[in-house]
Amino acid sequence: MSTQREIKRLKGEKDIVIVAHNYQMGDIQDIADFVGDSFGLAQKVNELEVSNVVFCGVDFMAESAAILNPDKRVILPDLKAECPMAEMVDIGDLRSYKEKNPEAAVVSYVNTNAETKAESDICCTSSNAVKVVKSLDNEKVLFLPDKNLGNYIKRFVHDKQVEVWEGYCATHDNILPEEVRRSMEEHPEAEVVVHPECRPEVVDIADYVESTAGILERAKKTASDEMIIGTEKEMGYRLEKEVPDKEYYFPGNPTCQNMKKITPEKVLNSLKSLSPKVKVEEDIAERARRPLQKMVDLGRGK
Ligand code: 13P
Ligand code: SF4
Repeated sequence: MSTQREIKRLKGEKDIVIVAHNYQMGDIQDIADFVGDSFGLAQKVNELEVSNVVFCGVDFMAESAAILNPDKRVILPDLKAECPMAEMVDIGDLRSYKEKNPEAAVVSYVNTNAETKAESDICCTSSNAVKVVKSLDNEKVLFLPDKNLGNYIKRFVHDKQVEVWEGYCATHDNILPEEVRRSMEEHPEAEVVVHPECRPEVVDIADYVESTAGILERAKKTASDEMIIGTEKEMGYRLEKEVPDKEYYFPGNPTCQNMKKITPEKVLNSLKSLSPKVKVEEDIAERARRPLQKMVDLGRGK
């Protein structure tokens, strides 16, 4: 029996759901019950009445789902699928910042590890980062770890002092403005939509700045027949599947190698063994749950 068919069969027999991020390879997206952005998947796993969730994404996404759902077994088919940006916060540096700036609210992007979340007041994703920062009473805010998303937030928040950590996502930061401009010259009618993890010079020339779910929504809404997309290339699979009547261009062809570590074979092994389970130390999970839940309760929006 083919791997895909075996996965479908096992899924039907067990109390299990497969969720996948928009950057997963096409054959993973095809076997998933739900495909979405980080916010959508966090929300979906919360709603599911199921004992086991196979999370096809990277570590911080599965970890967040496990923290929010201590009653569910969350399985990441390859524990080495790690987001490098999530490791760009030194916990000692964060603690000493907090000691020196007790009046500042700490907002952490979900692309952080559980220990960083446990030190934070609230989390956010790219779909609600501006809304989260605006929702705070504090005049001073530390945003971490993505400097590009942090600087994007600063464009919309003028009544607060927003300090930004020095982290970044190499996949998005390597999308260069000159590559985007070249694509714009080749496709002058195309709408340009980029992820807020892109550098400011790329955000400046985009028509829209959206999370991966927001990019899909733009594709559904726009009258344009062509789109230049500034994000990970596998987003193209989702776009072509859901909105096939357009042409999509990905300047620089950005790839997140960690997202590609999840393969159908590893998913099949996970379905058979219900492992590897994502584990978070209980006291850290306890403290990280509140900022994550606050983010989910606040919802999407700018
Ligand atoms: P989204 O929340 O927009 O899906 O982005 C997650 C991510 O890792 C972007 O690099
Ligand atoms: Fe992390 Fe960047 Fe990959 Fe997203 S694309 S998971 S931020 S490395």
